[in-house]
Amino acid sequence: MMAGTRDSGLGTREKAPVLTIDGPSGVGKGSVSARVARALDWHVLDSGAVYRAVAAAALEKGLKADDEAGLVSLCESLDLQFEAGDNGILVFLDGRAVDDRLRTESVSAMSSKVAVLPAVRAALLDLQRGFRRPPGLVADGRDMGTVVFPDAPIKIFLDASVEERANRRYKQLKEKGESVKFLRLFRDLEARDRRDRERAVSPTVAADDAVVIDSTRLTLEQVVNRVLDEVQRRVDSSGT
Ligand code: C5P
Repeated sequence: MMAGTRDSGLGTREKAPVLTIDGPSGVGKGSVSARVARALDWHVLDSGAVYRAVAAAALEKGLKADDEAGLVSLCESLDLQFEAGDNGILVFLDGRAVDDRLRTESVSAMSSKVAVLPAVRAALLDLQRGFRRPPGLVADGRDMGTVVFPDAPIKIFLDASVEERANRRYKQLKEKGESVKFLRLFRDLEARDRRDRERAVSPTVAADDAVVIDSTRLTLEQVVNRVLDEVQRRVDSSGT
C-alpha cells in the first residue's frame, strides 16, 4: 500500500473516520449520536431526516410515492445540514432550522414509502457520503454500516425491545402534553419494524462487523459511554 494511504480506518489522509449508529425506530439513535458527536467534536448525519426531507418536499409538490423520476430530481436539489444539539440532532433545510415539520404523521408515512425505492436510495448515496469530513462523522440511520459507509471503522447497532421503545415514546409525548395510546404506539412501532427489517433494499440489519448494544435496560448515559468505549478501543488497537 502506498505511503499516506494506509487505511487504519481512523484518520487516514483521504478519508475521515466514520462511526455508524444503526437501529430500529425509537431506539434513541438521534440522542446517542448527538451526544457522541459532541463528545468527539465530530460532524453528525441524521439519515432519517434526509428521507423525511424528500418526503416533505414531495408532499409539498404533490408528487406521488411511486413517481421515481420526480423524487430523484428532488433528491438532487436537497440542501441539508446537521448539528449535534443538547437533546438530539438539529436539522437545517435550505439554511433554516427545521422544527417538527419533518416529524408529522404524513411525512413519517411518506418517508417510509419513498425509502423503499432503489432509485431514491441510490440518488441519496453521494449526498450522505458528502457529510464525511475531518475530523470525523457520526452517521445515524438504518443502513449506515451496511450500505452507505461499509468501510466505517466503528459500527454500532443499537437495539431495544418494542415495549421499551414504545414506553419511551409514550413518556416523551405525554411530557409534551399530547394525548396518546400506548397500544397504538406499540402497534405502529411493530409495523414500522417489520417494514424496515423485511424490505428488499437496505433492510435494517446489523452489519457483520457491528457491535450490538441492547439498550433496553441502559440509560442514555450508559449507552453513550459504551459507544465512546468502543471508539477508544478502536483508537487503541489502530495505534493512532
Ligand atoms: O429514523 P427516522 O424515523 O427519522 O427515518 C424516517 C424513515 O426513513 C423511516 O421510515 C426509515 O425507513 C427511512 N430510513 C431509511 N434509511 C435510513 C434512515 C431512515 O430507509 N438510513
